[in-house]
Amino acid sequence: MQKIAILGASGSLGRAVLNGLLSAGFTVTALLRESSQSKIEHHSNLSILRIPDSIIECPIDDLVKAVSGQEALVITIAGSQVREQMRLADACESAGVTRIIPADFGSCDSDDQATVDILPLYSAKYKVRAYLQDLAEKPGSKLTWTSIIGGHFLDLGLQGDLLLFNVKGRKVDLLNGGNIRFSTSTIDRYGLAVARILQRPEETKNKIIYVQSACVSQNELLASLKRATGEQQWSVTDHKWREKLDGAREKADQGDRDAIEEVVGVWGIVASNWEKSRQLSNGLLGLENEDVDEIVKRSVSEIE
Ligand SMILES: NC(=O)c1ccc[n+]([C@@H]2O[C@H](COP(=O)([O-])OP(=O)(O)OC[C@H]3O[C@@H](n4cnc5c(N)ncnc54)[C@H](OP(=O)(O)O)[C@@H]3O)[C@@H](O)[C@H]2O)c1
Repeated sequence: MQKIAILGASGSLGRAVLNGLLSAGFTVTALLRESSQSKIEHHSNLSILRIPDSIIECPIDDLVKAVSGQEALVITIAGSQVREQMRLADACESAGVTRIIPADFGSCDSDDQATVDILPLYSAKYKVRAYLQDLAEKPGSKLTWTSIIGGHFLDLGLQGDLLLFNVKGRKVDLLNGGNIRFSTSTIDRYGLAVARILQRPEETKNKIIYVQSACVSQNELLASLKRATGEQQWSVTDHKWREKLDGAREKADQGDRDAIEEVVGVWGIVASNWEKSRQLSNGLLGLENEDVDEIVKRSVSEIE
């Protein structure tokens, strides 16, 4: 594969994926919606193609034209945009695009029933994959798919409160003493994983690929944050994860957006250990675990 389209290249993850693709030597077309004001840095292997703002209302022939000539489409818009992704998949199937990587990139496992029950967003991710599976099985279809699940964003997660740390405030909410281990990936690791998958189309087709930068505990992250900040005194609150999850779910059910994030945060720690629950694909993609101290140091320098 050489020619790759990406939708969402101006987003947080999209920029890292775009960088991963360009660094690996792919020829990339970034599909930007008409109204996008985002700036994408020039690169000799990158072209920009504007598409209508509404993928749903855009005539299918126009979408087919937009993806024609591409071998793969990587989607890094929000995973909640189910109809948009399905419509793009239809266009890819008609245009002969052979691989779609949908907007999964999950903190949590969209292939796990408990996760799908707890988090509506993950049911959206599941639905998109099921649709891709059906399209791939259609007689004569050349379309294949790969989903990537790498756990919480490690670097961006520390810059916000996804991992239940407040780095600036030197605070952390530990779950069950902080020793639960979970898989986590930097956005660059996700970007590299996308590139490595497209370099190995046969081995990665029609599969969920589980990756990580590292499998860590909150206590290990806290120790690393103490080293990176030089600050030993952190305010630590310990919670039973089940109570924290149930409390956040109750508020999330009433539409509280922060609580929805909190549910993702907690569940991404308690149910995302790919070393234990899944077959980790780091080896298949030629990826080593990364140095957590280095990642934490970089993240802290961006926060402070
Ligand atoms: N594992 C984790 O911890 C974690 C954390 C966050 C997100 N994620 C996942 O990562 C993926 C990307 O999330 P993100 O936070 O990087 O997203 P984001 O920052 O919101 O970026 C998405 C980009 O897509 C473009 N876009 C959105 N809707 C579009 C549409 N309908 N048509 C065309 N372009 C559209 C926007 O570009 P313009 O504004 O320039 O048009 C936007 O910058 C999602 O699947 C999400 O679930 C994972």
